[in-house]
Amino acid sequence: KVYGINRGYKGLIEDDVQEMNLSSVGDIIHRGGTILKSSRCEEFKTEEGRKIAVKVLKKYGIDCLVVIGGDGSFNGASKLSELGFPAIGIPGTIDNDLAYTDYTIGYFTAIETVIDAIGKIRDTSSSHERVNIVEVMGRHCGDLALYSGLAGGAETILPEHPESIEGICDRLETTKKRGKKHSIIVLAEGVGNAHEIGKQIAEKTGSDLRVTILGHVQRGGSPSAFDRILASKLGVRAVELLLDGKSARVVGVKDDKVIDMDIHEALAMKKEFDKYTYKMTKILSI
Ligand code: F6P
Repeated sequence: KVYGINRGYKGLIEDDVQEMNLSSVGDIIHRGGTILKSSRCEEFKTEEGRKIAVKVLKKYGIDCLVVIGGDGSFNGASKLSELGFPAIGIPGTIDNDLAYTDYTIGYFTAIETVIDAIGKIRDTSSSHERVNIVEVMGRHCGDLALYSGLAGGAETILPEHPESIEGICDRLETTKKRGKKHSIIVLAEGVGNAHEIGKQIAEKTGSDLRVTILGHVQRGGSPSAFDRILASKLGVRAVELLLDGKSARVVGVKDDKVIDMDIHEALAMKKEFDKYTYKMTKILSI
């Protein structure tokens, strides 16, 4: 028997639970977002909130939980397992900020959205011979900026560590000297304010500069083939683990293989910034 909890932990505390069957998930593979809805829940971060949640789970006779989300959701799942409630985590976030897995569900779809936007902005950037800053999401992780910048052919990528304004301006100069009068800068939201950085660059270089903040457009849309396949494989592994009586684990992908790992171990891992790829983008972009 399968139940769906609406709006994540918030719905769990508020007893917003629905029984699901096979047709509940029919015709949704091509859709973005989630039919179960999502929310941020402060109450679940408290012991009281979690105790209410466990009561609701017991009321329905639910004996294990699959949690889909990022590190916040996984922290909740690890706390639930500490209370003796079996939980398995599936990584779902556009940020790709979980160290234990190479990819999270939603990340590649967001990359597709960003490179589509960069392509369109490049058209007008080239026509007007402008500098365009494209700010992308990712919270504190620069993966979305780094890889969409690489795939979108951005002339400059600012993924994680703030680069000096002088350094960025020097790059723009080099690009100009090579005969390219327009330039795309992909900036991760965690690095700094796009308008502030843009103002400083424009003042220093005299460039005609525009800023586009892509925002929540990155969190919707039909999932890419990669995300559909990844989600299917990870979902199956999560159910297999529960059927084997396993708990407090997360599923993910490492070197093209589906893996699972202790949730606490996974959460303790620190995501390393991909310096090698970053260096590579500096050589490849002209
Ligand atoms: O974690 C996903 C994410 O989209 C981040 O990239 C972004 O910083 C944040 O969520 C935005 O959150 P909200 O939709 O609550 O504004």
